[in-house]
Amino acid sequence: MLMRTQVGIVGGGPSGQLLARLLGLEGIDVVVLEKRTPGYLRARVRAGLLEQGTVDLLTDAGVGARLARERLIHEGVQLAFDGRRHRIDLKGLTGKAVTIYGQAEVQKDLMDAHAAAGTRVIYEAEDVSLHGLSNDKPCLRFHTGGEGQEIACDFIAGCDGFHGVSRQAIPQEVIRIYERVYPFGWLGVLSDTTPVNHELIYASSERGFALCTMRSMVRSRYYLQVSAEEDAADWPDERFWGELKRRIPPDAAAALLTGPSIEKSVAQLRSFVAEPMRYGRLFLAGDAAHIVPPTGAKGLNLAAADVRFLAEALIAYYKSGRTDLMDGYSARCLQRVWKAQRFSWWMTNLTHRFPEASPFERRAQAAELAYLVSSEAAQTTLAENYVGLPIM
Ligand code: FAD
Ligand code: DHB
Repeated sequence: MLMRTQVGIVGGGPSGQLLARLLGLEGIDVVVLEKRTPGYLRARVRAGLLEQGTVDLLTDAGVGARLARERLIHEGVQLAFDGRRHRIDLKGLTGKAVTIYGQAEVQKDLMDAHAAAGTRVIYEAEDVSLHGLSNDKPCLRFHTGGEGQEIACDFIAGCDGFHGVSRQAIPQEVIRIYERVYPFGWLGVLSDTTPVNHELIYASSERGFALCTMRSMVRSRYYLQVSAEEDAADWPDERFWGELKRRIPPDAAAALLTGPSIEKSVAQLRSFVAEPMRYGRLFLAGDAAHIVPPTGAKGLNLAAADVRFLAEALIAYYKSGRTDLMDGYSARCLQRVWKAQRFSWWMTNLTHRFPEASPFERRAQAAELAYLVSSEAAQTTLAENYVGLPIM
Protein backbone atom coordinates (compact mmCIF):
# COMPACT_ATOMS: atom_id res chain seq x y z
CA MET A 1 0.00 0.00 0.00
CA LEU A 2 1.26 3.51 -0.78
CA MET A 3 0.82 6.18 1.90
CA ARG A 4 1.91 9.80 2.10
CA THR A 5 3.05 11.98 4.93
CA GLN A 6 4.97 15.19 5.47
CA VAL A 7 7.57 13.86 7.92
CA GLY A 8 8.33 10.14 8.10
CA ILE A 9 9.93 9.29 11.44
CA VAL A 10 12.02 6.13 11.80
CA GLY A 11 12.11 4.99 15.45
CA GLY A 12 9.52 5.40 18.19
CA GLY A 13 11.89 5.86 21.15
CA PRO A 14 11.93 9.15 23.05
CA SER A 15 13.39 11.13 20.09
CA GLY A 16 10.94 9.88 17.47
CA GLN A 17 7.83 10.14 19.66
CA LEU A 18 8.74 13.59 20.99
CA LEU A 19 9.38 14.89 17.47
CA ALA A 20 6.06 13.43 16.34
CA ARG A 21 4.36 15.21 19.20
CA LEU A 22 5.92 18.65 18.56
CA LEU A 23 5.12 18.46 14.83
CA GLY A 24 1.66 17.01 15.38
CA LEU A 25 0.75 19.92 17.67
CA GLU A 26 1.55 22.28 14.79
CA GLY A 27 -0.66 20.37 12.38
CA ILE A 28 2.23 18.75 10.49
CA ASP A 29 1.40 15.22 9.36
CA VAL A 30 3.74 12.47 10.58
CA VAL A 31 4.04 8.68 10.52
CA VAL A 32 6.27 6.94 13.08
CA LEU A 33 7.73 3.51 12.26
CA GLU A 34 8.91 1.54 15.28
CA LYS A 35 10.18 -2.02 15.11
CA ARG A 36 9.35 -3.03 18.71
CA THR A 37 6.02 -3.64 20.46
CA PRO A 38 4.43 -1.01 22.74
CA GLY A 39 4.90 -3.36 25.71
CA TYR A 40 8.62 -3.62 25.06
CA LEU A 41 9.03 0.16 24.86
CA ARG A 42 7.03 0.80 28.04
CA ALA A 43 9.25 -1.56 30.02
CA ARG A 44 12.63 -0.44 28.65
CA VAL A 45 14.70 0.93 31.54
CA ARG A 46 17.35 3.44 30.56
CA ALA A 47 18.10 7.01 31.60
CA GLY A 48 16.64 8.72 34.65
CA LEU A 49 17.92 12.28 34.89
CA LEU A 50 16.33 15.16 32.99
CA GLU A 51 17.77 18.65 32.61
CA GLN A 52 15.35 21.55 33.07
CA GLY A 53 15.45 22.22 29.30
CA THR A 54 14.19 18.67 28.69
CA VAL A 55 11.44 19.07 31.29
CA ASP A 56 10.39 22.35 29.63
CA LEU A 57 10.29 20.74 26.20
CA LEU A 58 8.19 17.80 27.42
CA THR A 59 5.85 20.30 29.06
CA ASP A 60 5.58 22.30 25.81
CA ALA A 61 4.79 19.02 24.07
CA GLY A 62 1.80 18.56 26.38
CA VAL A 63 3.28 15.54 28.19
CA GLY A 64 4.41 17.28 31.37
CA ALA A 65 1.45 16.72 33.72
CA ARG A 66 2.46 13.39 35.32
CA LEU A 67 6.10 14.46 35.16
CA ALA A 68 5.26 17.58 37.21
CA ARG A 69 3.42 15.47 39.80
CA GLU A 70 5.80 12.56 40.15
CA ARG A 71 9.27 13.92 39.50
CA LEU A 72 11.94 14.31 42.17
CA ILE A 73 13.89 17.56 42.11
CA HIS A 74 17.54 17.27 43.09
CA GLU A 75 19.48 20.36 44.09
CA GLY A 76 22.75 18.58 44.72
CA VAL A 77 24.75 15.50 43.84
CA GLN A 78 27.43 13.62 45.75
CA LEU A 79 30.87 12.58 44.64
CA ALA A 80 32.45 9.80 46.72
CA PHE A 81 36.06 8.62 46.86
CA ASP A 82 38.53 7.48 49.53
CA GLY A 83 35.62 6.37 51.69
CA ARG A 84 34.08 9.86 51.91
CA ARG A 85 31.27 11.76 50.23
CA HIS A 86 31.39 15.35 49.02
CA ARG A 87 28.26 17.26 48.04
CA ILE A 88 28.21 19.40 44.92
CA ASP A 89 25.62 22.10 45.52
CA LEU A 90 24.06 22.32 42.05
CA LYS A 91 21.46 24.87 43.08
CA GLY A 92 23.86 27.04 45.04
CA LEU A 93 26.49 27.03 42.31
CA THR A 94 24.26 27.42 39.25
CA GLY A 95 20.78 28.40 40.47
CA LYS A 96 19.47 25.25 38.77
CA ALA A 97 18.37 21.78 39.84
CA VAL A 98 17.85 18.51 37.92
CA THR A 99 14.83 16.21 37.67
CA ILE A 100 14.68 12.49 38.34
CA TYR A 101 11.99 10.85 36.19
CA GLY A 102 12.59 7.59 34.33
CA GLN A 103 12.92 7.35 30.57
CA ALA A 104 10.30 4.57 30.62
CA GLU A 105 7.84 7.08 32.14
CA VAL A 106 8.68 9.67 29.45
CA GLN A 107 8.12 6.96 26.85
CA LYS A 108 4.74 5.99 28.34
CA ASP A 109 3.58 9.63 28.55
CA LEU A 110 4.47 10.16 24.88
CA MET A 111 2.81 6.93 23.75
CA ASP A 112 -0.37 7.72 25.69
CA ALA A 113 -0.51 11.24 24.20
CA HIS A 114 -0.15 9.82 20.66
CA ALA A 115 -2.79 7.18 21.28
CA ALA A 116 -5.18 9.92 22.47
CA ALA A 117 -4.35 12.20 19.51
CA GLY A 118 -4.62 9.42 16.94
CA THR A 119 -1.06 9.88 15.63
CA ARG A 120 -0.07 7.23 13.10
CA VAL A 121 2.53 5.24 15.08
CA ILE A 122 3.16 1.87 13.47
CA TYR A 123 4.64 -0.63 15.93
CA GLU A 124 6.33 -3.86 14.86
CA ALA A 125 7.32 -2.25 11.54
CA GLU A 126 9.80 -4.71 9.99
CA ASP A 127 12.61 -4.26 7.46
CA VAL A 128 12.35 -0.48 7.41
CA SER A 129 14.45 0.99 4.58
CA LEU A 130 15.08 4.53 3.33
CA HIS A 131 15.00 5.47 -0.37
CA GLY A 132 15.25 8.50 -2.64
CA LEU A 133 17.43 10.50 -0.27
CA SER A 134 19.56 11.91 -3.06
CA ASN A 135 16.79 12.64 -5.62
CA ASP A 136 14.57 14.73 -3.34
CA LYS A 137 11.81 12.10 -3.34
CA PRO A 138 12.36 10.35 -0.04
CA CYS A 139 10.29 7.34 0.86
CA LEU A 140 10.20 4.65 3.52
CA ARG A 141 9.52 0.99 2.81
CA PHE A 142 8.67 -1.59 5.46
CA HIS A 143 6.55 -4.63 6.28
CA THR A 144 3.74 -5.03 8.77
CA GLY A 145 2.04 -8.36 9.27
CA GLY A 146 4.07 -9.71 6.33
CA GLU A 147 2.73 -7.08 3.93
CA GLY A 148 4.96 -4.57 2.09
CA GLN A 149 4.19 -0.86 2.58
CA GLU A 150 5.59 2.38 1.22
CA ILE A 151 5.30 5.94 2.54
CA ALA A 152 6.24 8.92 0.38
CA CYS A 153 7.57 11.73 2.60
CA ASP A 154 8.74 15.34 2.26
CA PHE A 155 11.40 14.66 4.90
CA ILE A 156 12.66 11.70 6.94
CA ALA A 157 13.77 11.96 10.57
CA GLY A 158 16.19 9.19 11.56
CA CYS A 159 15.39 8.68 15.26
CA ASP A 160 16.17 4.96 15.32
CA GLY A 161 19.01 4.90 17.83
CA PHE A 162 22.58 3.73 17.54
CA HIS A 163 21.78 0.39 15.85
CA GLY A 164 19.16 1.82 13.49
CA VAL A 165 19.08 1.89 9.70
CA SER A 166 18.87 5.65 9.06
CA ARG A 167 22.51 6.54 9.64
CA GLN A 168 23.51 3.50 7.54
CA ALA A 169 21.49 4.90 4.62
CA ILE A 170 23.91 7.85 4.29
CA PRO A 171 26.77 7.18 1.84
CA GLN A 172 29.99 6.52 3.77
CA GLU A 173 31.92 9.19 1.90
CA VAL A 174 29.73 12.01 3.18
CA ILE A 175 29.61 11.02 6.84
CA ARG A 176 32.47 11.27 9.29
CA ILE A 177 32.55 9.10 12.40
CA TYR A 178 34.33 9.94 15.67
CA GLU A 179 34.34 7.12 18.17
CA ARG A 180 35.83 5.91 21.41
CA VAL A 181 34.82 2.55 22.88
CA TYR A 182 35.63 2.23 26.60
CA PRO A 183 37.04 -1.02 27.97
CA PHE A 184 34.05 -1.43 30.31
CA GLY A 185 30.28 -1.31 30.64
CA TRP A 186 27.67 -0.53 33.30
CA LEU A 187 25.65 -3.24 34.99
CA GLY A 188 22.36 -1.68 36.09
CA VAL A 189 19.91 -3.01 38.67
CA LEU A 190 16.43 -1.72 39.45
CA SER A 191 14.87 -2.67 42.79
CA ASP A 192 11.86 -1.69 44.85
CA THR A 193 13.86 -0.47 47.81
CA THR A 194 14.27 2.95 49.42
CA PRO A 195 17.27 4.70 47.77
CA VAL A 196 20.44 4.67 49.87
CA ASN A 197 20.58 8.47 49.79
CA HIS A 198 18.14 11.23 48.85
CA GLU A 199 20.64 12.52 46.25
CA LEU A 200 22.69 10.62 43.64
CA ILE A 201 26.11 9.27 44.64
CA TYR A 202 28.82 8.95 41.97
CA ALA A 203 31.45 6.73 43.62
CA SER A 204 34.99 6.25 42.37
CA SER A 205 36.81 3.34 43.99
CA GLU A 206 39.78 1.03 43.52
CA ARG A 207 37.30 -1.71 42.53
CA GLY A 208 35.67 0.49 39.89
CA PHE A 209 32.91 3.06 39.57
CA ALA A 210 29.43 2.81 41.10
CA LEU A 211 26.37 5.06 40.81
CA CYS A 212 23.47 5.18 43.27
CA THR A 213 20.40 6.72 41.66
CA MET A 214 16.65 6.22 41.86
CA ARG A 215 13.32 6.35 40.10
CA SER A 216 11.25 7.33 43.14
CA MET A 217 11.57 7.27 46.93
CA VAL A 218 10.62 3.57 46.84
CA ARG A 219 12.47 2.46 43.71
CA SER A 220 16.28 2.48 43.45
CA ARG A 221 18.57 2.21 40.47
CA TYR A 222 22.20 1.22 40.97
CA TYR A 223 25.02 0.79 38.47
CA LEU A 224 28.41 -0.90 38.68
CA GLN A 225 31.30 -0.52 36.28
CA VAL A 226 32.00 -4.02 34.92
CA SER A 227 34.18 -5.36 32.12
CA ALA A 228 32.78 -4.84 28.63
CA GLU A 229 32.04 -8.51 28.02
CA GLU A 230 30.28 -9.08 31.35
CA ASP A 231 27.01 -11.06 31.28
CA ALA A 232 24.24 -9.86 33.64
CA ALA A 233 23.39 -13.55 34.23
CA ASP A 234 26.71 -13.92 36.08
CA TRP A 235 25.54 -11.35 38.63
CA PRO A 236 23.00 -12.87 40.99
CA ASP A 237 21.54 -10.22 43.31
CA GLU A 238 23.77 -11.12 46.29
CA ARG A 239 26.90 -10.65 44.17
CA PHE A 240 25.65 -7.29 42.92
CA TRP A 241 24.77 -5.92 46.38
CA GLY A 242 28.04 -7.22 47.84
CA GLU A 243 30.11 -5.50 45.18
CA LEU A 244 28.14 -2.25 45.43
CA LYS A 245 28.76 -2.13 49.20
CA ARG A 246 32.49 -2.44 48.63
CA ARG A 247 32.55 0.48 46.18
CA ILE A 248 30.55 3.09 48.10
CA PRO A 249 31.68 4.80 51.34
CA PRO A 250 31.18 2.71 54.54
CA ASP A 251 28.42 4.97 55.90
CA ALA A 252 26.46 4.55 52.65
CA ALA A 253 27.12 0.78 52.58
CA ALA A 254 25.77 0.52 56.13
CA ALA A 255 22.60 2.38 55.11
CA LEU A 256 22.02 0.43 51.87
CA LEU A 257 18.74 -1.45 51.72
CA THR A 258 18.84 -4.46 49.40
CA GLY A 259 16.06 -6.46 47.82
CA PRO A 260 15.25 -8.52 44.74
CA SER A 261 16.21 -6.93 41.42
CA ILE A 262 13.37 -6.28 38.98
CA GLU A 263 15.67 -5.52 36.03
CA LYS A 264 19.34 -6.19 35.40
CA SER A 265 21.29 -5.38 32.23
CA VAL A 266 24.74 -4.42 30.94
CA ALA A 267 25.39 -1.45 28.63
CA GLN A 268 28.72 -0.91 26.86
CA LEU A 269 30.21 2.57 27.29
CA ARG A 270 30.91 4.48 24.11
CA SER A 271 31.50 7.99 22.82
CA PHE A 272 30.34 8.37 19.21
CA VAL A 273 29.50 11.23 16.84
CA ALA A 274 28.41 11.05 13.19
CA GLU A 275 28.83 14.32 11.26
CA PRO A 276 26.96 15.94 9.65
CA MET A 277 23.54 15.08 11.08
CA ARG A 278 21.79 15.80 7.78
CA TYR A 279 21.94 14.23 4.35
CA GLY A 280 19.58 15.85 1.84
CA ARG A 281 16.07 15.36 3.20
CA LEU A 282 17.17 13.00 5.98
CA PHE A 283 17.85 14.43 9.45
CA LEU A 284 19.38 12.31 12.22
CA ALA A 285 18.41 12.96 15.85
CA GLY A 286 19.36 11.44 19.21
CA ASP A 287 21.30 8.18 19.53
CA ALA A 288 21.13 7.65 15.75
CA ALA A 289 23.72 10.45 15.48
CA HIS A 290 25.61 10.32 18.77
CA ILE A 291 26.26 8.27 21.90
CA VAL A 292 27.78 9.48 25.15
CA PRO A 293 28.94 7.35 28.07
CA PRO A 294 26.14 7.60 30.68
CA THR A 295 28.34 9.13 33.41
CA GLY A 296 27.21 12.69 32.68
CA ALA A 297 23.52 11.71 32.24
CA LYS A 298 23.46 13.46 28.87
CA GLY A 299 22.14 10.86 26.36
CA LEU A 300 18.44 11.51 26.65
CA ASN A 301 18.92 15.25 27.21
CA LEU A 302 20.96 15.60 24.02
CA ALA A 303 18.31 13.66 22.12
CA ALA A 304 15.66 16.10 23.39
CA ALA A 305 17.76 19.11 22.33
CA ASP A 306 18.18 17.68 18.79
CA VAL A 307 14.44 17.14 18.58
CA ARG A 308 13.74 20.69 19.72
CA PHE A 309 15.99 22.08 16.99
CA LEU A 310 14.63 19.74 14.32
CA ALA A 311 11.03 20.54 15.21
CA GLU A 312 11.80 24.27 15.05
CA ALA A 313 13.41 23.84 11.63
CA LEU A 314 10.57 21.77 10.15
CA ILE A 315 7.89 24.05 11.61
CA ALA A 316 9.66 27.14 10.16
CA TYR A 317 9.68 25.39 6.77
CA TYR A 318 6.01 24.42 6.79
CA LYS A 319 4.74 27.68 8.33
CA SER A 320 6.83 30.21 6.40
CA GLY A 321 8.86 28.41 3.76
CA ARG A 322 12.11 29.10 5.60
CA THR A 323 14.99 26.70 4.96
CA ASP A 324 17.70 28.42 7.02
CA LEU A 325 16.95 26.49 10.21
CA MET A 326 17.08 23.18 8.33
CA ASP A 327 20.39 24.26 6.79
CA GLY A 328 21.75 25.16 10.22
CA TYR A 329 20.35 22.09 12.01
CA SER A 330 23.44 19.92 12.02
CA ALA A 331 25.87 22.65 13.10
CA ARG A 332 23.51 23.84 15.82
CA CYS A 333 23.13 20.32 17.27
CA LEU A 334 26.80 19.44 16.97
CA GLN A 335 27.88 22.45 19.00
CA ARG A 336 25.89 21.13 21.91
CA VAL A 337 26.77 17.49 21.20
CA TRP A 338 30.51 18.17 21.45
CA LYS A 339 30.11 20.05 24.72
CA ALA A 340 28.23 17.07 26.13
CA GLN A 341 30.79 14.68 24.63
CA ARG A 342 33.62 16.51 26.35
CA PHE A 343 31.81 16.55 29.68
CA SER A 344 30.72 12.88 29.55
CA TRP A 345 34.23 11.77 28.56
CA TRP A 346 35.77 13.89 31.35
CA MET A 347 33.33 12.61 34.00
CA THR A 348 34.04 9.03 32.86
CA ASN A 349 37.82 9.56 33.03
CA LEU A 350 37.50 11.20 36.43
CA THR A 351 35.50 8.43 38.11
CA HIS A 352 36.17 5.07 36.41
CA ARG A 353 38.98 2.60 36.85
CA PHE A 354 40.76 2.15 33.51
CA PRO A 355 42.40 -1.28 33.40
CA GLU A 356 45.31 0.03 31.29
CA ALA A 357 46.00 3.17 33.41
CA SER A 358 49.60 3.58 34.56
CA PRO A 359 50.43 4.27 38.24
CA PHE A 360 51.04 7.90 37.19
CA GLU A 361 47.60 8.16 35.61
CA ARG A 362 45.95 6.68 38.71
CA ARG A 363 47.62 9.25 40.97
CA ALA A 364 46.72 12.07 38.58
CA GLN A 365 43.09 10.91 38.66
CA ALA A 366 43.11 10.89 42.48
CA ALA A 367 44.65 14.38 42.45
CA GLU A 368 41.93 15.61 40.12
CA LEU A 369 39.19 14.33 42.43
CA ALA A 370 40.90 15.99 45.42
CA TYR A 371 41.25 19.25 43.47
CA LEU A 372 37.62 19.18 42.45
CA VAL A 373 36.28 18.96 45.99
CA SER A 374 38.68 21.70 47.15
CA SER A 375 37.86 24.21 44.41
CA GLU A 376 34.57 26.06 44.10
CA ALA A 377 35.53 27.10 40.56
CA ALA A 378 36.01 23.44 39.52
CA GLN A 379 32.72 22.44 41.15
CA THR A 380 30.94 25.29 39.37
CA THR A 381 32.25 24.05 36.02
CA LEU A 382 31.05 20.53 36.79
CA ALA A 383 27.68 21.77 38.04
CA GLU A 384 27.09 24.03 35.00
CA ASN A 385 27.65 21.13 32.65
CA TYR A 386 25.70 18.65 34.76
CA VAL A 387 22.52 20.75 35.08
CA GLY A 388 22.62 21.45 31.33
CA LEU A 389 23.94 24.19 29.13
CA PRO A 390 21.55 26.89 27.88
CA ILE A 391 19.62 26.26 24.67
CA MET A 392 21.27 28.30 21.89
P1 FAD B 1 16.48 5.02 21.30
O1 FAD B 1 15.96 5.16 22.68
O2 FAD B 1 17.52 4.00 21.04
O3 FAD B 1 15.23 4.77 20.37
C1 FAD B 1 15.37 4.34 19.04
C2 FAD B 1 14.11 3.59 18.66
O4 FAD B 1 14.24 3.18 17.31
C3 FAD B 1 13.93 2.33 19.48
O5 FAD B 1 12.63 2.30 20.01
C4 FAD B 1 14.18 1.20 18.51
O6 FAD B 1 13.40 0.05 18.81
C5 FAD B 1 13.79 1.84 17.20
N1 FAD B 1 14.47 1.27 16.04
C6 FAD B 1 15.76 0.88 15.94
N2 FAD B 1 16.02 0.40 14.71
C7 FAD B 1 14.87 0.50 14.02
C8 FAD B 1 14.50 0.16 12.70
N3 FAD B 1 15.37 -0.39 11.86
N4 FAD B 1 13.23 0.38 12.31
C9 FAD B 1 12.32 0.92 13.16
N5 FAD B 1 12.62 1.26 14.44
C10 FAD B 1 13.88 1.05 14.85
N6 FAD B 1 21.25 7.81 28.96
C11 FAD B 1 21.35 8.47 30.10
O7 FAD B 1 21.32 9.71 30.08
N7 FAD B 1 21.49 7.75 31.29
C12 FAD B 1 21.49 6.38 31.32
O8 FAD B 1 21.59 5.77 32.37
C13 FAD B 1 21.37 5.67 30.13
N8 FAD B 1 21.37 4.31 30.10
C14 FAD B 1 21.26 3.66 28.90
C15 FAD B 1 21.28 2.27 28.84
C16 FAD B 1 21.20 1.59 27.61
C17 FAD B 1 21.23 0.09 27.56
C18 FAD B 1 21.11 2.34 26.41
C19 FAD B 1 21.04 1.63 25.07
C20 FAD B 1 21.08 3.73 26.48
C21 FAD B 1 21.16 4.41 27.70
N9 FAD B 1 21.14 5.81 27.80
C22 FAD B 1 21.25 6.45 28.95
C23 FAD B 1 20.99 6.62 26.65
C24 FAD B 1 19.56 7.06 26.46
O9 FAD B 1 18.71 6.02 26.86
C25 FAD B 1 19.44 7.40 25.01
O10 FAD B 1 20.25 8.54 24.76
C26 FAD B 1 18.01 7.65 24.56
O11 FAD B 1 17.27 6.47 24.62
C27 FAD B 1 18.02 8.18 23.12
O12 FAD B 1 16.74 8.14 22.60
P2 FAD B 1 16.53 7.87 21.05
O13 FAD B 1 15.05 7.93 20.88
O14 FAD B 1 17.39 8.78 20.27
O15 FAD B 1 17.06 6.41 20.79
C1 DHB C 1 20.94 7.87 35.91
C2 DHB C 1 21.78 7.43 34.96
C3 DHB C 1 22.93 8.12 34.71
O1 DHB C 1 23.77 7.70 33.76
C4 DHB C 1 23.27 9.24 35.44
O2 DHB C 1 24.44 9.86 35.21
C5 DHB C 1 22.41 9.69 36.38
C6 DHB C 1 21.22 9.00 36.62
C7 DHB C 1 19.70 7.10 36.19
O3 DHB C 1 19.51 6.05 35.58
O4 DHB C 1 18.92 7.54 37.06
